Amino acid sequence: MTTAYPRCDRTTVWAALQGHFEAHGRDFDLREAFGRDPGRFEAWSFEAPEVFADLSRNLIDVATLKLLVALAEECGLPERRDAMLRGEPINHTEGRAVLHTALRAPPGAGPHSAEVHEVLDRMLEFAERVRDVASSGIRHVVNIGIGGSDLGPQMAVPALDAFVHPQLQFHFVSNVDGHDIAPVLRRLTPEQTLFIVASKTFTTQETMANAQVARAWFLAHGGRDIDRHFVATTTNVKAAAEFGITTTFGFWDWVGGRYSLWSAIGLPLAIAIGAEHFRALLAGAHAMDRHFAEAPLARNLPAVLGLLDVWYRNFHRFTSRSVAPYHQGLKRLPAYLQQLEMESNGKRVDLQGEPLPYATSPVVWGEPGTNGQHAYFQMLHQGTDVIPVEFILVRRPTHGHEDLHAKLLANGLAQAQALMRGKTTEEAMLEKAPTASPALDAATVARHRTFPGNRPSTTFVLDQLTPRSLGALIAMYEHRVFTSGALWGINSFDQWGVELGKALCNDLLPRLASGDTAGLDASTAGLIGRLRGAGR
Ligand code: F6P
Repeated sequence: MTTAYPRCDRTTVWAALQGHFEAHGRDFDLREAFGRDPGRFEAWSFEAPEVFADLSRNLIDVATLKLLVALAEECGLPERRDAMLRGEPINHTEGRAVLHTALRAPPGAGPHSAEVHEVLDRMLEFAERVRDVASSGIRHVVNIGIGGSDLGPQMAVPALDAFVHPQLQFHFVSNVDGHDIAPVLRRLTPEQTLFIVASKTFTTQETMANAQVARAWFLAHGGRDIDRHFVATTTNVKAAAEFGITTTFGFWDWVGGRYSLWSAIGLPLAIAIGAEHFRALLAGAHAMDRHFAEAPLARNLPAVLGLLDVWYRNFHRFTSRSVAPYHQGLKRLPAYLQQLEMESNGKRVDLQGEPLPYATSPVVWGEPGTNGQHAYFQMLHQGTDVIPVEFILVRRPTHGHEDLHAKLLANGLAQAQALMRGKTTEEAMLEKAPTASPALDAATVARHRTFPGNRPSTTFVLDQLTPRSLGALIAMYEHRVFTSGALWGINSFDQWGVELGKALCNDLLPRLASGDTAGLDASTAGLIGRLRGAGR
């Protein structure tokens, strides 16, 4: 039973880590560390399936890692991981297993193999039929879903653009705001469109409302044969049938929404890239699963990343982490990771429901490079907060613009270098600053042009962004989130925090129409009046 292991702050190693932090962690200087150890890059290079990681620019030394690994062992990380992989109900608040890894295991290799591969084969066969556009007639695929039923395919389709069927266009409708679906519908004709209604529960307000709008539009525009133009991906096949959808690809309650890209929820991606590439995505993820299951903790990339997250969040007390994919195709990766990490680890009680005395999930955010450089990188370099940055570089592009690619990579490398190196006031004094005001003395200008440096970053390198490497990259992030969640002693697989707002919305919806504000707080009541047009 996973609750048999102590919470991280009740281990003996926790106190040792605190002491180590005070003695060597707080003032750790990356520049000195590189000066002391010419082999630092090699020592902190990690080779995992499809992903190379340079961790050398992190505020960590061998002694820190040793203590963090000891912490992981005392907290039962290997046993908790194995319990997850075996299919024990580690999502104990919902009594569910957590088996997204089973979705990418080869036939016969994981739990539930027969049912997983039955749906996978059927779904990939369907995807191939849609991709035969001459006979299917389909040119547009619209995924209607939100959260985990949207973000995975919405992130992965542009990421794998080089592999996408050239005659198919993909649209993702998630928001209950009509401004999301309306411009999509304007570009469609019923006979060329396939709607995928994606919802694990098939009850989510936004998805159900958008699916109704899509069906009404389809019928109003002369659409015939709903059966051929609407399919569902869901665990609730009965509700899909009640909606009038007969073609359904199912999955199971042991697949969390934010871990469901590998299930039937991946259907839009499977249609986009085809069966063979979808299987390569699964194989890449499976290779990372094996690495996570088998590599010793100190050389286990997802585990070390998760341990580093604990080190940064609970000892350095960094509140956020920025993700900078230097690949435009990964533009939705930060949004995907926000759900993965913040919905999983944004928790405030331990497994027994006791309030935690320490921080959990950082804020995860970011934009593709180089765009972020011209927006918020100012703060990363000179702001008052230290925010670890994660660079994702891809060695070989799938376009032929070598010059652009060289510039992109040089930018990514330069940002990591600048964050670490910084610029002293003395160095700044020696520079000419052509745009500096002549009214200011040189020393004042130099202080504004000083960079503290010593700001940590991790750089991931993929050889190429392919289905296989994307699968491995995403699985790496999943296991990293598992690792920090296991150390924090929380349930990373429920999401009760989304419930309250949903319930209150159900109460407010009729009140917006009627104007009944009885019993509401003054702010909500006042805003309802304003939105109904009162007081103008
Ligand atoms: O709002 C939270 C959530 O339950 C997510 O966890 C989930 O991915 C999303 O809503 C969508 O849920 P469903 O797939 O059931 O429509």
